[in-house]
Amino acid sequence: MTKESQSSEGTLEKIVSLAKRRGFVFQGSEIYGGLAGMWDYGPLGVSLKRNIVDAWWKKFVSGREDMYAVDTAVIMNPRVWEASGHVKGFADSLESGQKFNVMFKTSVGAGDGAVGSFLRPETAQGTFVNFKNVIDSFHPKLPFGIAQVGKAFRNEIAPRDFLFRSREFEQMEVEYFIREKDWQRQFDYWREEMLSWVESIGVSRKSIHELEVPPAQRAHYSKRTLDFEYDFPFGRKELYGLAYRGDFDLKSHQSASGTALEYLDEDPPAGPDGTVGAGGKDRFIPHVIEPTFGVDRTVLALLCEAYNEDELGGEKRVFLKFPKHLAPVRVAVFPLLKNKPNLVAKAREVFRMVRKEIPNAMFDDNGNIGKRYRRQDEIGTPHCITVDFETLENDTVTVRDRDSGRQERFAVHKLAEVLS
Ligand code: GAP
Repeated sequence: MTKESQSSEGTLEKIVSLAKRRGFVFQGSEIYGGLAGMWDYGPLGVSLKRNIVDAWWKKFVSGREDMYAVDTAVIMNPRVWEASGHVKGFADSLESGQKFNVMFKTSVGAGDGAVGSFLRPETAQGTFVNFKNVIDSFHPKLPFGIAQVGKAFRNEIAPRDFLFRSREFEQMEVEYFIREKDWQRQFDYWREEMLSWVESIGVSRKSIHELEVPPAQRAHYSKRTLDFEYDFPFGRKELYGLAYRGDFDLKSHQSASGTALEYLDEDPPAGPDGTVGAGGKDRFIPHVIEPTFGVDRTVLALLCEAYNEDELGGEKRVFLKFPKHLAPVRVAVFPLLKNKPNLVAKAREVFRMVRKEIPNAMFDDNGNIGKRYRRQDEIGTPHCITVDFETLENDTVTVRDRDSGRQERFAVHKLAEVLS
């Protein structure tokens, strides 16, 4: 059965079951019956998530000259959430029609001195309150961005659909600071950047549907929002979002904290009539374009995109067709037989060599060779290297391709080149 002919019904159940069986994602607190909306990542899930975040970081942070990173506290002064509008506006409707604020409450400190606060529902506010620190330390030129990857928490009324709507999740967010007049151009630029990211993780543009969010449905801070929706097995749903937050956040924090959050341009570009700000300087609150990416929804979309069933050698198989750079295990090395010490020793030698060149290599001698191939297919390992009796004679190994199941022989010294 090809991917196209698979009915989406039941696909999510198969993915959830594979994710647990193979150690990607487990139900949170499982041995106590779980806790709704909470998920734990196992060894392969950690590796997949790490690869996603690393690729994102490379594209949007370390690969750019205009990006600054922060990693801010999950619990902040409660006045942050008053000023940001979350205390008043971050609510969902209960069936009974009462509004329910989805921020998790917590308290900091002991006894009478305890102060009530919240677990952050978005990383963005930690970024906004550090805007002044970043400009004071680095004096960046506009436009520039501040990026953050971290956990966010929402007491969702109805967590559902596996990792899609959970109560604890991870975000990769950029707050990109611009001049107001540039917002449209920057919005279009970031829209393209987001689509190019989607393609870089192996999701075709055709699977992404852009939704212009109508004003009444936008978050309280947004002047324009574009949702990037993906066809999950349970329906077309938001994967990522792009928002034009105007100067809402910096202005609100400036007025609530009493700290100036303006940007001083010492050398502003001349206006059309040749004018600049007073004294040749320009002081203003920048506007913000915010591309935001959920890590867990990316994991889920990749699992859905990668999940395939077919028939190989007369047997049904399941395989995950991850792009090579995101696969949790990039290459597995086996001895043909695990009870032949000379094969095992040679396989270990090849493994040590491969491991130096290729991250996330795995040595596998569990079960017979057929079972190992099936297992590696199911976790999406792009290549399996088998050390057999011929290896001992001429230092060549077989390299099996996950998608076609085809095997080719290569000299051991060529492996790094072939695999990369
Ligand atoms: N700072 C803007 C912001 O937080 P959002 O659309 O509410 O915007 C951003 O969230 C992204 O975080 C979403 O596009 C989605 O990928 C992810 N996300 C939001 N709520 C989530 C939930 N309950 N479970 C998993 N991911 C979630």
